[in-house]
Amino acid sequence: MTTQTHQSTPVILTGLRANNDLHIGNYLGALMPLVEMATVKSSEYQINIFVPDLHSFTTPIDHSKLQAQVTNNLRLYVAAGLPLNNSNLHIYRQSYIPAHSELTWILDCFTGFGEMNRMTQFKDKSSKLGDDRISVGLFNYPVLMAADILLYGATYVPVGDDQTQHLEFARDIAARMNNQFGELFIVPKPVKEQHAFFGKEQGLRIRDLVEPAKKMSKSDETGKGVIFMNDSPEAARKKIMSATTDSLGVVAFDLQNQPGVSNLLSLLALFANRPLDEVIAEYQGQTQYGPLKTAVADAVVAFLTTFQEALANVDNAQILAKLADSEAAMRDQADVTLLRVQRAVGLRG
Ligand code: ADP
Ligand code: TRP
Repeated sequence: MTTQTHQSTPVILTGLRANNDLHIGNYLGALMPLVEMATVKSSEYQINIFVPDLHSFTTPIDHSKLQAQVTNNLRLYVAAGLPLNNSNLHIYRQSYIPAHSELTWILDCFTGFGEMNRMTQFKDKSSKLGDDRISVGLFNYPVLMAADILLYGATYVPVGDDQTQHLEFARDIAARMNNQFGELFIVPKPVKEQHAFFGKEQGLRIRDLVEPAKKMSKSDETGKGVIFMNDSPEAARKKIMSATTDSLGVVAFDLQNQPGVSNLLSLLALFANRPLDEVIAEYQGQTQYGPLKTAVADAVVAFLTTFQEALANVDNAQILAKLADSEAAMRDQADVTLLRVQRAVGLRG
C-alpha cells in the first residue's frame, strides 16, 4: 500500500445533511448549486458527496426512520440532476467506511477540550437541549467532520456559513499534526479561497412569502410563506398568489423597500431560467402585482410538476449500486490515509 500524501486528482468534498423538509430556498441555494458544481468540476476534480449518517444522532432522532431518510435524501439529489453515472463522482455513506470512526478517535486525542468548547454551533445546539441530552457526540462532532475531510485529502469543501468554524478546525488540526509528524494531511484551502472558488459572493437568499423581511426557512411555524418541494403544485400556486407585497403599487426591484415584489422577480428569473435583468425590464413600472404573481405561480407549478415526476421515477436500485461502488473505492482511499496516520502515531510499524 502506498503512503503518498497527494492524490493525483484534487478532491472537492461535501456532506449532505439528511433533511427531508426541503423547500425551494434549499433547492435554489444549496441543491442546484451542488449538482451544477459536481457536474461542471468533475472533469478536473474528484467529487466526493457523502451522507454523514454518523452525524445524524448527535442530537436525538427517531432511529427507526434513519435508513429511509438517507435514501429519501439521495433521491432528492438524483431528481435534481446529480449524475450517478459519472465516474469522478463518488456518493457514499460515512458509516460504511470505518476509517471515519477510527481517524476520529485518533484526532480526538490531539484536540483540545477548549477548542471544541469554542464552537458556536455546539453552544447554539446544546443550549436548546437539557443537560442530560447534550451528548459527547454533539460536542466532538467537528472532529468527525475533520476526519471526513482529511481522509480524502480534500482541498475544497463547500459548506454553509454555519460550518466555516468547523472547516477552520479541520485546517488547524491538519496543520498541527503535520507539524508534529510530517506531511500526513493535505490542508484544505482557507475559507476565503473556498468562497472565491465556489463564487460564494452571489449568496442567494430566497425570502419568506408572508414575511419577506425574513429568509424562507423550514423553521417557519406556519409554513404559509414556505414552498416545500413536496407541496402540491396547486398549494404552491395559492401560497404565491397570496404572497405579501407592499402598498407602493408599482413593480420595482428594490430589496430594501419592496422585498416581497423583489423576491417574486427573483423567483421568476430562477424558475423560468431567464436573466433577472430581463424579468425586471418586463415587469418594472406595472401598477398591478397580479400578473407578476401569476407568472411566478406558473413557473413554480411547472417546476414542481417536473421535479415531482422525476422524483417518483428515481430508481432506488441504481442509487444502491452507486453507493456500493463508491464505498468500495473510497474505503481504499481512506485506508491509505488512515494507515499513514496509524504509523505516525505509533499504532503500526
Ligand atoms: P433552513 O433555514 O430551511 O433550516 P438550512 O439552514 O438547513 O435551511 O440550510 C440548508 C442549505 O440551504 C444551506 O446551504 C442554505 O444556505 C440553503 N438555504 C436555506 N434557506 C435558503 C434560502 N431561503 N435561500 C437560499 N438558500 C437557502
Ligand atoms: N456538518 C455538516 C452540516 O451539518 C455536514 C458535514 C459532515 C460535512 N461532514 C462534513 C460537510 C464534511 C462538509 C465536509 O451541514
